[in-house]
Amino acid sequence: MALKILDHNSTEYWQMVQLRNDILRRPLGLTFSKEELEAEDHHILIGAFEDDYMLGCCMLVDEGHGKVRLRQMAVINDLQGKGIGRVLMNFAENIARDRGYKTLTMHARKNALGFYEKMGYKVAGGEFTEITIPHYVMEKSL
Ligand SMILES: CC(C)(COP(=O)(O)OP(=O)(O)OC[C@H]1O[C@@H](n2cnc3c(N)ncnc32)[C@H](O)[C@@H]1OP(=O)(O)O)[C@@H](O)C(=O)NCCC(=O)NCCS
Repeated sequence: MALKILDHNSTEYWQMVQLRNDILRRPLGLTFSKEELEAEDHHILIGAFEDDYMLGCCMLVDEGHGKVRLRQMAVINDLQGKGIGRVLMNFAENIARDRGYKTLTMHARKNALGFYEKMGYKVAGGEFTEITIPHYVMEKSL
């Protein structure tokens, strides 16, 4: 497996958008707006690949004051539970540390809490609804 930082609007970026649509949005009857995708130009875009095939992805978004937010973590359905999410998370944390961030934060889907807990994240607030489903803020010091 190879981990890469992707250029916005590259072929790999559009593979990432498709994966995110398949795993994170279409099951909820949602999609991405043009504006939402254009704003990702500023984010750190990460993909895990086997040859040219994307297995999973995530992105990091600067929140200011030493904080970075993980977004859009997804692994393709057939390969979930095989350690790809852990590898992506470790890679994203290393990039965040290298860039001087002190805290990693996220809006975690309730059904993924157990995954992030295994990665050392703690719930930091009450449940809220985002894109129609329950979420929690989770954080970890890097
Ligand atoms: C959540 C997700 C990114 C995790 O990636 P993954 O490759 O499946 O996870 P891993 O195989 O690396 O799992 C690492 C550990 O977390 C556990 N884990 C994985 N998903 C879990 C979940 N949803 N709930 C509880 N534990 C989970 C695994 O059992 C494993 O535990 P172990 O180390 O004791 O064996 C992936 O399952 C996914 O894309 N899910 C659907 C989309 C989603 O919910 N994304 C998160 C948005 S916030």
